[in-house]
Amino acid sequence: MSAAVELRIARPRHFLELRDFNRPALRALLEQAAAFKRARPARSEKLAGKTLAMIFEKPSTRTRISFEVAMRELGGDAIVLAPRDMQIGRGETIADTARVLSRYVQAIMLRTDSASKLRELARYASVPVINGLTELSHPCQVLADVMTFEEHRGPIGGQIVAWVGDGNNVAASWIEAAALFGFSLWLGCPAGYQPAADVLAWAERLGADVTVLADPVAAVTGARCVVTDTWISMANSEDEAAARHAALAPYQVTPALMAKAAPDAIFMHCLPAHRGEEVTAEVIDGPASVVFDEAENRLHVQKAILAWCLG
Ligand code: CP
Ligand code: NVA
Repeated sequence: MSAAVELRIARPRHFLELRDFNRPALRALLEQAAAFKRARPARSEKLAGKTLAMIFEKPSTRTRISFEVAMRELGGDAIVLAPRDMQIGRGETIADTARVLSRYVQAIMLRTDSASKLRELARYASVPVINGLTELSHPCQVLADVMTFEEHRGPIGGQIVAWVGDGNNVAASWIEAAALFGFSLWLGCPAGYQPAADVLAWAERLGADVTVLADPVAAVTGARCVVTDTWISMANSEDEAAARHAALAPYQVTPALMAKAAPDAIFMHCLPAHRGEEVTAEVIDGPASVVFDEAENRLHVQKAILAWCLG
């Protein structure tokens, strides 16, 4: 293929990782999300004639419903697919699935516990691919979380956010957000459950203020926001459950831990939550918790992502 022809074949606007974007691009998505939020309940026809295919290799409540409602409220359609209903469940390749779906729909969202499948889908799809969570990241979630933080506590740049518990996929996207939005992120994680070395190295190369500590109290001290997540993610085996509970128990977010954060600190959790494990009911159901605002903001942020992807 000649260079001239290649130039005319635009790469689809994939939404794979926060790190693929710069700060102005992420800011534009957040502004668009806020505009969609203000406009609700009004619907639009912005995505009329467009269909999103959503493939869920793992369960979902928020991601599935918020993407489907987003498409409907923007005048488009969504199709939910489970691998067991598709030939992919019988060994058809991701590459062929990507090329076939690209002939039917205008965008594809994938939730998987294999980030390499997401990358393969994006490589072979000629329509935009959206990351609906992998074992390594959850960018839609953290963009909604940044929106939520700013609604409650103003611009996030220069602020301190604390992550407590498992240094998992959501933590990795928070690390990327810290580098890109310019806030400090202190992570309190036990040995063996610290964030992936490559995302920490990436953040360090960008000069981000990201610090991993073993002590949860040190991590939250003075933070304007305390974030946690389940101790057992969908990508983890149930065989790990006992070891994870033992290692992560000292990292439970309790009223005593919240008292070490800034006096007006908010509490965040992407949900689903396990009261009595990673967080006590007093905290998640208490006045500092903004978890349902986060869940709502998934809808507005994903409308912005869809509008960008479908240009
Ligand atoms: N937070 C989140 O992604 O929730 P679901 O697993 O319900 O989609
Ligand atoms: N870390 C969790 C997030 C769920 C939305 C998981 O991967 O299961």
